[in-house]
Amino acid sequence: MMENQAKEILSEVKYPGFERDIVSLGFARNVAIRGDQIAIELEITSSANEVAETLEREIRERFAAKNKRNIELVIKRPAAPKETSSRGRNLAPNIKNFVMISSGKGGVGKSTTAVNLAIAAAKKGLKVGILDADIYGPNVPRMLGLEGEKLAAIGGKVAPPQAFGVKAMSMGMVLEPAQALIWRGPMIIKTIEQFFSDVAWGELDVLFMDMPPGTGDAQLSLAQNVPVTAGVAVSTPQTVALDDAKRALDMFAKMRIKVAGIVENMSGFICPNCGGEYDIFAKGSCAALAEKFGTQVLAEIPIEPDIREGGDAGKPIVEAKPNSTAAKKYKDAADKLLDFLQTVSGDNAEIQPIN
Ligand SMILES: Nc1ncnc2c1ncn2[C@@H]1O[C@H](COP(=O)(O)OP(=O)(O)OP(=O)(O)O)[C@@H](O)[C@H]1O
Ligand SMILES: [Mg+2]
Repeated sequence: MMENQAKEILSEVKYPGFERDIVSLGFARNVAIRGDQIAIELEITSSANEVAETLEREIRERFAAKNKRNIELVIKRPAAPKETSSRGRNLAPNIKNFVMISSGKGGVGKSTTAVNLAIAAAKKGLKVGILDADIYGPNVPRMLGLEGEKLAAIGGKVAPPQAFGVKAMSMGMVLEPAQALIWRGPMIIKTIEQFFSDVAWGELDVLFMDMPPGTGDAQLSLAQNVPVTAGVAVSTPQTVALDDAKRALDMFAKMRIKVAGIVENMSGFICPNCGGEYDIFAKGSCAALAEKFGTQVLAEIPIEPDIREGGDAGKPIVEAKPNSTAAKKYKDAADKLLDFLQTVSGDNAEIQPIN
């Protein structure tokens, strides 16, 4: 066997939880043939045991299928991450994974993405919460049908109301709609802290954090108070929006938040009358951006009237029309995201769905 043949076999091995193979991801550092021995050196980005084990098993199986069993495999990986934020704080140690949903600009579908991913994760049997960190324009309560919900207290803390298996907390539940508009940075920071210190989240597998648009105080404050496990960037696919998406990705990089992927929203339109698919905003253009940032596209969600209606009516599409194409895409995206959380958070934050 030649080195390029060995590399070809390696390029059939997908990185666990990803669509891409380990060669195109640049993880195959060295492949050398020494007589009948094949020496392979991988360098991966995950510290989780399962990832290295899965890779080793699959690589050995693939070579064994070609009758090559003398494989010397070295997998280099980083040390397990410590569960601390940049300032070493964790105001909510009962929450295993924190997922920040961000975008460079407004109205691209962050909240829609957050509620649908959260419900999809809850449907898998996980304990899920959603924090609406959009203090100026909170819309999670409406999207989950929790508008006007009375808040209860448990042991001096606020109990987050629940919808579709998701615990939710939002400034919209605490304030009159117009009240927050006069707020300044320090108040936002304080409020974000209280969302953890004064809310009885209980034990959660995943807390989704729906961010306000841009890269401001709320993002920084969150990253300083809890160890954010992963970021998800939401973008529409037209070129101008991609520049904004890039800003969100740069922000994650600056705050050392690992990126689980990009959700390309409003990606094409399926005509309800003729079933034909129309490309309105250059569908698929987030893929190149994902590649550039070494991440993946979690989903391409079409423009779909049922998505908007679900949000307006307080019953997101994953709940209202679970068999629709868009709902399935959200569920796939949630699966990919949960896989990613598993690979980055190591043993500390193991996710074990019930079903
Ligand atoms: N794929 C989609 N198809 C149809 N409508 C959508 C889709 N995604 C989002 N919408 C609608 O677009 C509007 C904006 O979405 P959303 O509120 O989720 O964006 P956002 O990024 O959270 O906005 P903001 O920056 O104001 O917080 C909503 O009315 C929502 O229902
Ligand atoms: Mg929003």
